[in-house]
Amino acid sequence: MKKSIKCNYKLLDCGEFEKLEQIGETIFRRPALQATWKRKLATDIWQQYQAKFDQYKNKWQVEPEMKLPNFKCNHLTFELKLSPNRQIGIFPEQFANWQWLQKTISQANRPLNILNGFAYTGTSTLFASAAGTSTNPTSVTHIDAASSSVKWAKQNCQLSHLENNHIRWYIDDIINFLTREVKRGNTYDGIILDPPAFGRGKKGVTWKISKDLPKLMHLIDQLLSEDPEFVILSCHDKNFGKRELRSELSKLQNLKNGKIETLNLTIKSANGNDLPAGECARWQKHK
Ligand SMILES: C[S@@+](CC[C@H](N)C(=O)[O-])C[C@H]1O[C@@H](n2cnc3c(N)ncnc32)[C@H](O)[C@@H]1O
Repeated sequence: MKKSIKCNYKLLDCGEFEKLEQIGETIFRRPALQATWKRKLATDIWQQYQAKFDQYKNKWQVEPEMKLPNFKCNHLTFELKLSPNRQIGIFPEQFANWQWLQKTISQANRPLNILNGFAYTGTSTLFASAAGTSTNPTSVTHIDAASSSVKWAKQNCQLSHLENNHIRWYIDDIINFLTREVKRGNTYDGIILDPPAFGRGKKGVTWKISKDLPKLMHLIDQLLSEDPEFVILSCHDKNFGKRELRSELSKLQNLKNGKIETLNLTIKSANGNDLPAGECARWQKHK
């Protein structure tokens, strides 16, 4: 079964280190340092935004009285906020993974216990949760070190009417949390990881991908169930491309009888300038 996902998001154009995005009726103009090429759309269209992150002043400029839309994907709803770090609460480059999660979970045809680390505002958490059914429910564990992100993800869960689904929410440093999960003997059938290059955990603990990824993957290996269904490892750090991510997954002893595929995470543009935004490796059990 392949159900496609419909979202109210469009990348209108990108180039000259910025991107122009439309969500609902609202146009956002934000920095995109990887967009080194020329823009396709005319300068006057690039001026027709309602919210712009000014990278020189390092702050948002918004139209007075502007009301932010929600991001909607099928039956799921996510609140948008203008964060000081230029983010708005969603990473549309994960679209291919949301679609894959939906398909992989429904094809598994059994209840799954799923872990989402570095889970931010919960888009993958909610896609994974919604892909379960009453006969084959999913149970999702959502971990992020930032209490504001976990609060936001819970709001998205309510907006999406999934508050009765089985989701465990944790504000914690990923390494500390997973170390405790190994001690408790918990295991997972599906794991989603989208680590940043650098992050700050609870109580000042720092995450650095170059130093901490091997530790994380060692814990993941111990947390995989006897019959895992999938693992997704994506990243936005140029030192961790498809080859490195594939190699991390291939080291996991507990991933047997399956295959790894790699992909570029890209935001499709309405005007032909697709925007590369990270890379990914994912493992799936053979059918
Ligand atoms: C790039 S965002 C992840 C985006 C998310 N996967 C999505 O698709 O929406 C990185 C997230 O990692 C979290 N984070 C950073 N360091 C962490 C740590 N040590 N433990 C847990 N979460 C951490 C941040 O709070 C942030 O929400």
